Amino acid sequence: MTTASTPPSIGLGLWKIPKPQTAALVREAIQVGYRHLDSACDYGNEKETGEGIRKALADGLCRRDDLWVTSKLWNTYHKAEHVRPALERTLADMNLDHLDLFLIHFPIPLAFVPFETRYPPGWTFDPSAPKPFMKAAPVPVIETWQAMERLVEAGLVRHIGVSNFCVSLLRDLLSQARIRPVVNQVESHPYLAQEKLLRYCREEGVAFTAFSPLGAPSYVPLGMARPEDSVLLEPCVLAAAGRLGKTPAQVVLRWAVQRGTSAVPKTEKPARLAENLAVGNFELSDAEMGAISALDRNRRFNDPGVFCEQAFGTFFPIYE
Ligand SMILES: NC(=O)c1ccc[n+]([C@@H]2O[C@H](COP(=O)([O-])OP(=O)(O)OC[C@H]3O[C@@H](n4cnc5c(N)ncnc54)[C@H](OP(=O)(O)O)[C@@H]3O)[C@@H](O)[C@H]2O)c1
Repeated sequence: MTTASTPPSIGLGLWKIPKPQTAALVREAIQVGYRHLDSACDYGNEKETGEGIRKALADGLCRRDDLWVTSKLWNTYHKAEHVRPALERTLADMNLDHLDLFLIHFPIPLAFVPFETRYPPGWTFDPSAPKPFMKAAPVPVIETWQAMERLVEAGLVRHIGVSNFCVSLLRDLLSQARIRPVVNQVESHPYLAQEKLLRYCREEGVAFTAFSPLGAPSYVPLGMARPEDSVLLEPCVLAAAGRLGKTPAQVVLRWAVQRGTSAVPKTEKPARLAENLAVGNFELSDAEMGAISALDRNRRFNDPGVFCEQAFGTFFPIYE
């Protein structure tokens, strides 16, 4: 039984991996050596992810206890009575009896949508309405958190944590939590280094997981970034890649790991799985780390205060 209380430094992100590819990709990832999978109800591919895990275990590639499987509580399930059913749905879809980590996906409580109406429910209350919108539901974070704590006590999840939490929310949660969050998963890459949040998490012993660790590329197809916004094109990243004989993506992921965070890069290209995982056996110099850290410009690609209005017709800032 694994006793790790923080996730392995590199995990496979599963957002936007098309369902038909997911099972084979997850199995392949485990074969290549991934032991950390970053899933969520909202990604819509938890059954296929579970299928990939099942195949990998059946093929003897590893044991369940060697894997760290994370999933996330969707925004519509924040009320206490919906937390356990939501987790149980994820477990059933993934064919698992427990998760290693269950995160509150966003500090954005939305009105409940029953499974029978829609699953995953997505962002808008009624996507078929003439003008779909997000329907907020006033649920205090501590209500959701206490229901999450009960999942740990029931043995259904080993750890609980949060995602997209700023310092103030985290501080408030830590003042009331009986079971502390082990992880805060937030967007982070060289253009959004989040130094103060990282420092606060470090001081509080909360592990920091970087999502969208490669920055813009995930958001280009969504119209939320331009190809030229990519940190992978930065001269200091290219120079380090050249010196080390690594790819720009490996340099950026190494920067994340070397500053003490974990990262969950997504790729749907089997050929890139090994590339993104192989960042443990080389080091960036202090000068290279400094140059990459100096790229920070507080550039957030995944900002509910922006995309909720553009995509879902509702102004819903959370960081301001
Ligand atoms: N908690 C949250 O709210 C939240 C939000 C966003 C994301 N996440 C998690 O974080 C994971 C990663 O974030 P993300 O998917 O937004 O972005 P990402 O992992 O930073 O970037 C993915 C993009 O980079 C490309 N890519 C992957 N490896 C590459 C390489 N070696 N060289 C060049 N390009 C490469 C991928 O294309 P290909 O697929 O074609 O390789 C894809 O377009 C998600 O899958 C999800 O698990 C969590």
